Amino acid sequence: MKTYLVTGGAGFIGSNYIHYMFRKYNNSIRILNVDALTYAGNPENLKDVENRENYSFIHADIRDKDAISKIFRENEIDRVVHFAAESHVDRSIKNPEIFVETNVLGTLVMLNCAKDAWELPDGSFKEGKKFLHVSTDEVYGSLDNLTDYFYETTPYDPHSPYSASKASSDFLVKAYIDTYHFPANITNCSNNYGPYQFPEKLIPLIINNALQGKELPVYGDGKNVRDWLYVEDHAKGIDMVQELGRPGETYNIGGHNEKQNIEIIHIILDTLREMLSDDDPRKALVSDDLIRFVTDRKGHDRRYAIAPDKIKAEIGWEPETMFAEGIKKTIQWYFEHEDWMRNVTSGDYQKYYEEMYK
Ligand code: NAD
Ligand code: DAU
Repeated sequence: MKTYLVTGGAGFIGSNYIHYMFRKYNNSIRILNVDALTYAGNPENLKDVENRENYSFIHADIRDKDAISKIFRENEIDRVVHFAAESHVDRSIKNPEIFVETNVLGTLVMLNCAKDAWELPDGSFKEGKKFLHVSTDEVYGSLDNLTDYFYETTPYDPHSPYSASKASSDFLVKAYIDTYHFPANITNCSNNYGPYQFPEKLIPLIINNALQGKELPVYGDGKNVRDWLYVEDHAKGIDMVQELGRPGETYNIGGHNEKQNIEIIHIILDTLREMLSDDDPRKALVSDDLIRFVTDRKGHDRRYAIAPDKIKAEIGWEPETMFAEGIKKTIQWYFEHEDWMRNVTSGDYQKYYEEMYK
């Protein structure tokens, strides 16, 4: 039975990944989820797996060397899947320090602890151990030309403190691969959407605001392009790269689904109108008139677009969920989890929202 150490499993993608892995492998794997439970980490995301015998939650910070090395000492870890990070670009613009501390120094702690646990006296590594670093397409910068795509060979050109911190962490992983032949892979993925996404990010924020008849903030001219991938497809890609990827390689993961932000907002509004019944009072609140063009994000990258050719050719992964289907599943999930949304938007979120959008 393989033991997985997942970091940041109480966040959006991490919790979807853990659900995916238990659906796929059921009792044939064990998962240890280490998470510091920042504002973005939510134990509610894992309620339906928390009583499994093959799942444990460890409340710890990846920057805490002692806590992380203790986990490696006490468990024979076979796989590390490293999600834990500060992940929101707007927060990184206001407060870059924590992004460097968590994303760069925290990754260094993970690498060192895994290396200490897995390295043999001759400098080689124990058979079968694998570390997967979950990264982002934002490290490649911004594309101006509509026919350009991000490939694994595209030079890094990060612009925000968030993407600079993720790029730095990627370079550390690459350095461990090159210097020590450390058994790692990197995945650089495009924008995810789906269940359990915190409503600071565009899609859940728009769904939540529209259902309450609140303004829908669109940065700049709304024509920035993102490449949206349903989160379960990302989870599947991560597992496939970890099992089938060539040692030391980087794989881009993307949805082949580029859309302008304003298009995304119109799709959400149309889908909400289609899915809400006529007698639901929220239907009357959902309106295009809620759209507000607001001051642009500082240093706002214009376009991201992933070419997932390598992962398709070498591993056979491709996106499976069309956006029209994925957005319906996502909206349905938010309809069925109103309490979840109420809980995460009470307290600190209100303060964040007021400061961000005042
Ligand atoms: P998230 O913000 O929803 O979750 C991050 C999780 O990490 C939370 O559970 C949080 O509590 C935990 N965490 C933060 N600091 C920690 C620390 N010091 N120690 C331990 N745990 C800590 O993020 P997400 O959107 O799920 O993203 C997960 C990963 O995927 C990140 O590395 C992000 O860069 C990457 N990524 C995200 C996207 C996306 O669209 N969301 C796309 C590509 C890559
Ligand atoms: O590309 C992958 C990245 O996608 C991940 O690495 C990040 O962790 C993740 O947060 C996401 O970054 P973005 O900045 O692209 O996502 P966000 O949802 O914050 O914004 C998507 C687009 O929508 C972006 O162009 C900014 C715009 N936007 C966002 C918000 C929150 C708005 O116009 N209004 C908003 O209120």
